[in-house]
Parts: sequence; structure tokens; C-alpha cells
Amino acid sequence: MENNIYNPEYVKRLFNRMSSSYERMNFITSFGFSIRWRRQFLESFNQTNHKAEIIDLLTGMGETWNSTKNKLPNSNLTVLDFSDGMLKYAKQKSKLKFNNEVIVMQQDILNNELPSNHYDFVTCAFGLKTFNQEQLEVLAWETKRILKQGGQFSFIEVSKPNNKILKSLYGFYLGKIIPILGWLLLGESRRV
Ligand SMILES: C[S@@+](CC[C@H](N)C(=O)[O-])C[C@H]1O[C@@H](n2cnc3c(N)ncnc32)[C@H](O)[C@@H]1O
Repeated sequence: MENNIYNPEYVKRLFNRMSSSYERMNFITSFGFSIRWRRQFLESFNQTNHKAEIIDLLTGMGETWNSTKNKLPNSNLTVLDFSDGMLKYAKQKSKLKFNNEVIVMQQDILNNELPSNHYDFVTCAFGLKTFNQEQLEVLAWETKRILKQGGQFSFIEVSKPNNKILKSLYGFYLGKIIPILGWLLLGESRRV
């Protein structure tokens, strides 16, 4: 299979294979900041006690769910991802920690069957890296389509720092450290 990071089949296969170590890898490579970032990215949402409909796109194994439920405790939470591997853990998490109340959907967001004008909130954390410009545009249109009028969305992604020193440290970390961590934690990742 073509090793193209924008090819959905390749991405699905990558996350299927990464699922057992994704959470650990994510925590280590962000120096533990990812937990704080997932809380911060919901701060702009209006607090509400009504039963809001919220959907978490590219949900992975449910890394954002705790923050979402803390911010919007009475919400109905639906989540979407297309990787069997990631969703296996997401379903376990829904059962063991969320009383089976998180609705887990397996769909490709770029070709989905979600209802229009339905959600009060749309969230999406750290999933944009594997989307090219055209796919990002589809994602933006789909977000607009599924949101109710006046609904809110929040997306979070890592970006390159502007500061020169930070930029070169980031380049070193990305080019040298992450591959070593990937090799140590994911083992076979280079054969994906
Ligand atoms: C980097 S993980 C992010 C997981 C989680 N949101 C988090 O905060 O860590 C990206 C997730 O997006 C999913 N994904 C990528 N492209 C997708 C698509 N087109 N449709 C549905 N899920 C997709 C992958 O399967 C993976 O679980």
C-alpha cells in the first residue's frame, strides 16, 4: 500500500497498528501537555446544563471524553473514528468508564452519514495532520453542515513554533527524538 499520509486507507491501517501504544506515545511525546491542551481547547465553549448534542470527530480512543464530560456534564456525547483498532479501546472505555453512554460511530468523516443541523458542539483533537488541503476543506464544510445554527466548534492541533530557537529545538525533537520514541514504543511502525 502506498505510504501516503493523506491516503485514508493508509491512515486507518497506521492507527490500527498504533492503537495499543497510542495513549502512552501521545503522553510522552507531548511531555504530558496533551492532557492540559485537551482541557484548554474546550474553554471557549459556553457552559450549559441542558442536554446538548456534542460530537467528537476523529475521537481515537476517547482521549477528549473526560474534558468534554467535565465541561458539559449533561451532554449526549457521540464520537466518530474509522479505525477498528482505536475504536476497540474507545468502546471498552465507553463501557467501563462511561456506563456505555458514549455513542461510538465507525465512519470516515470525509464520507459520512451524520445528520445535518444536529449538533450543538463539534470537537476534534489532534487529527488534522493526516488531512491535505482538500480534505481539510471537506472537513470544514461537514462541520458546518452538522452543526446547528449558533452551534460551536473547537479543533486543536500542534503547530510549528515561530520563535527561531524553539523552531530548531522542535525540528530536532521531530526529526531525531520522535523516530527513536516511535521505534521504542511502536516497534514495527517502520513496516506500516
Ligand atoms: C491522532 S489521532 C487523535 C485521537 C484523539 N482525538 C486524541 O485527542 O488523541 C487521529 C484519529 O483520527 C482518525 N481518523 C483519521 N482520518 C479519519 C477519517 N477520515 N475519518 C475518521 N477517522 C479518521 C484516526 O483513526 C485516529 O484515531
